[in-house]
Amino acid sequence: MLLYIHIPFCDSKCFYCAFNSYTKKSSLKDKYIKKLIKEFKYLVSKYKIKKESFDTLYIGGGTPSCLDAKLYEELFFYLNPYLKKGIEKTCEANPNSANFAWQNNMKKLGITRLSFGVQSFDDTKLKILGRNHNKKTALKALEDAQTLGFESVSCDIIYGLKNDNIKMLKKDLEFIQSLEIKHLSAYSLIIEEGTKFEKKSYLKIDDEILSKDFFNHLESLGFIQYEISAFAKEKKYFSKHNIGYWDYKPYLGLGCGAVGRIGDTRYYCEKNLEKYLGENLEEGLEKKSEKDFYYDFETLSKEDIKTEKMLLGLRSFVGFELDILNKDEQAKVLFLLKENKLFQKGSKIFAKDFLLCDELALYILD
Ligand SMILES: C[S@@+](CC[C@H](N)C(=O)[O-])C[C@H]1O[C@@H](n2cnc3c(N)ncnc32)[C@H](O)[C@@H]1O
Ligand code: SF4
Repeated sequence: MLLYIHIPFCDSKCFYCAFNSYTKKSSLKDKYIKKLIKEFKYLVSKYKIKKESFDTLYIGGGTPSCLDAKLYEELFFYLNPYLKKGIEKTCEANPNSANFAWQNNMKKLGITRLSFGVQSFDDTKLKILGRNHNKKTALKALEDAQTLGFESVSCDIIYGLKNDNIKMLKKDLEFIQSLEIKHLSAYSLIIEEGTKFEKKSYLKIDDEILSKDFFNHLESLGFIQYEISAFAKEKKYFSKHNIGYWDYKPYLGLGCGAVGRIGDTRYYCEKNLEKYLGENLEEGLEKKSEKDFYYDFETLSKEDIKTEKMLLGLRSFVGFELDILNKDEQAKVLFLLKENKLFQKGSKIFAKDFLLCDELALYILD
């Protein structure tokens, strides 16, 4: 099982981002950690989770690095017995807040992998994106992480803005190469509802050709693409947590706005921070949780699960089992195999080109 913890705080809001995060509620950070602990205890009891059950931990956000590392100490005290030994423990970080001391303290708490929201090393582009860091801050944060010796350091890059071109992206990759970063998540910009970018949709370009050039260049630098947005220098740097999602492992989601899935039930945690915290923190969760007050539940049908497994499998090197499909769908897969759009290894089917995965899935399920 996987464990995801959501930290819904950011120091500022980036113009493209629709993640569940608050920028003006710093005073609630302390309470938030306490509530996370309560929620963890509640979910562990609800789902009868045994000690040493979790295969990976991922702390995401929002911006986990805008919480003092000290606040995580108590949380880890409760989490640790439930984590298997020697597992990957990722924490997302913003270069602006993830200073040397913060990184050092998180490493001491057992974080093995830092994933930095770098987005670009171009100061003009960073300004357009509404980031609160610049190239210098990003380089310093990444150097610190390398100095501290995290098992893995990853960078998020965004591409597909109006003025993006392959030359700029290659320049970003030069920095990544020179810092010997082994993992990269490269996201094609999505114009999300309710963001500043939504009102400026001209900022997004049709990036199919750019993606291809970019992916080819990454390959020439020795990066293996193991998902549509994920690249690593060696297999050992692949994100085990994300592979767990694509492999359809169950995951416990914890925190304001988090999502979890246990068996065929997906649950959505309360998105509103004040509601999540409850008026009375001392009683809060235990009392209301009897009625599952904080969650919306969704029961996934067999069709839902099949679609999700196929989509996730086609987007990544994980693939999907042919026999989850019905006869008609399998016939379409055979056609796509002949057309060289898919390939088969044993009982599993894989996409040849991750960029086509959504179209292929639509064709198979139509
Ligand atoms: C939770 S953030 C990472 C950590 C931290 N909050 C930060 O931004 O520095 C996750 C990543 O999602 C990506 N992302 C967020 N919104 C996006 C969008 N609209 N389009 C493409 N990528 C996006 C960014 O690359 C971002 O780094
Ligand atoms: S990209 Fe990261 S730092 Fe920016 S608003 Fe979103 S979660 Fe916060």
